[in-house]
Amino acid sequence: MEYDFLVIGSGPGGYVAAIRAAQLGLSTAVVEKNERFGGTCLNIGCIPSKALLDSSELYARLRASGEAGGQDLESHGIVVGKLDLNLKTMMVRKQKVVERLTSGVGQLFKGNGVQTFNGVGRLVATGKVEVTGTEGKRQTLEARNIVLATGSVPADLPIFPTGKDGFLTSTEALSLKRVPARMVVIGAGAIGLELGSVWARLGAEVTVIELLDQILPGMDSEISRRARSILAKQGLEIVTGVRVLGYEKAGKSASEKSTTGKASKSATGRTGGVILTAEDKDGNKQRLPADAVLVAVGRRPYTEGLGLAELGVKIQEGSGRVVVDEQYQTSLAGVYAIGDLIPGPMLAHKAEEEGIAVAEILAGMPGEVNYDTIPSVVYTWPEVASVGKSEEQLKQEGVAYNKGSFPFRANGRALSMASEDGLVKILADRSSDRVLGVHIVGPWASDLIAEAVTVMEFGGSAEDIARTVHAHPTLSEALREAALAVDGRAIHVLGRKKD
Ligand code: NAI
Repeated sequence: MEYDFLVIGSGPGGYVAAIRAAQLGLSTAVVEKNERFGGTCLNIGCIPSKALLDSSELYARLRASGEAGGQDLESHGIVVGKLDLNLKTMMVRKQKVVERLTSGVGQLFKGNGVQTFNGVGRLVATGKVEVTGTEGKRQTLEARNIVLATGSVPADLPIFPTGKDGFLTSTEALSLKRVPARMVVIGAGAIGLELGSVWARLGAEVTVIELLDQILPGMDSEISRRARSILAKQGLEIVTGVRVLGYEKAGKSASEKSTTGKASKSATGRTGGVILTAEDKDGNKQRLPADAVLVAVGRRPYTEGLGLAELGVKIQEGSGRVVVDEQYQTSLAGVYAIGDLIPGPMLAHKAEEEGIAVAEILAGMPGEVNYDTIPSVVYTWPEVASVGKSEEQLKQEGVAYNKGSFPFRANGRALSMASEDGLVKILADRSSDRVLGVHIVGPWASDLIAEAVTVMEFGGSAEDIARTVHAHPTLSEALREAALAVDGRAIHVLGRKKD
């Protein structure tokens, strides 16, 4: 049979596209090479990392209570006995979360009548995809429209090996068998800071090396600076403006230990370790011993074996992203691409929206994505979230703006949670008051940002947020106060605004 809609890849872009297409009455099939649906996000990305972030945060809070200067749980009047870490159980729990969600995708496919094929898909001609199954069995599927949603893979640094001598990608860093004594993370992006936080909380000494001058490059720099100082207080050592040059094997590592202080083999099961060499802008060299090195310097589109070059599908030079038009069609008629494969932020929710849009377009509807309101979140604790323009971008574009910010230390709910580090910052157009950007570092910033996204989606103003009733006491009041502060009238901080 000829399908109306055939998707290669079942990550958040692909599976959402397939479900939406099936809802709209298109005969739909999905080709997935892995045993489990859900792609990187559900299997080796967003979901397992969040499971470990939550587990490690619980552990770190308990551990802080027992340490000199630790005040967290003790200040609540909770006295903790002997604390121990069972990393194996933590990993089992993580995997259960993954299995529940990935099997849920399978059920959604079944329930929506989406046909699934297990194997590697390759475009062989317009309207034709060859699927090679696990035992090498091949079959050709036909479809009126083909959607490529094969996502991305970690980018590597050619000076380092992958998968040996303790060098890890995010995939391995989600499944270490032991806590490394010393971990070096290369790249202070979302992955570096999230997974760096996980292993630091579990007891590793973590150093994050960033090539550029700020962590989370591209993020509003005031927010990035604040996030950096909070993470540093938690014990994450962060160095910026530093280039890694190479490494040598260290021989038997003296630094390996488990969280209980007992000697152990390294996290990857080896003995030994490496010494990285790095250099700052002034040419000062550093030597950094490490039992594990997480390389988190970005991701690249995954197009290997997809048959794009053979069929002349246009790819951007340098970035390797697939070129698409406004309707997500590639240079080959009837072949579409979404998600990490095409330009834009490599985020699961961006891919999902594109999946919905492409399904709607192919069902004859006006599918569209608003690229101006894609939130971005880093799940450290506290979290960092933002949407819209940063102050630097507005300055660069010559846009006049008003700014209002509000610290969580003046928010009752944050104080009661003992999570008062951080702030909300709102940037609004100086003449129209329209919200142009919202940036948060603070507790549950990931959820708080949704209100800002909604307001921006509706073209709302800071005044709209300021005049909206927010329940008390909630963290969301910090957003309202920041909106009031845009006009110099926040209630719970002193000082009327200048200009
Ligand atoms: P990224 O692009 O966010 O960050 C990579 C960092 O590495 C940048 O700060 C970059 O300046 C730095 N870098 C590059 N080369 C370097 C070098 N030689 N030495 C030192 N630093 C170097 O990439 P990341 O964190 O690997 O994540 C990959 C993709 O996955 C990103 O698009 C990210 O947005 C997405 N992602 C999103 C998450 C979220 O939304 N919470 C979580 C994890 C990943």
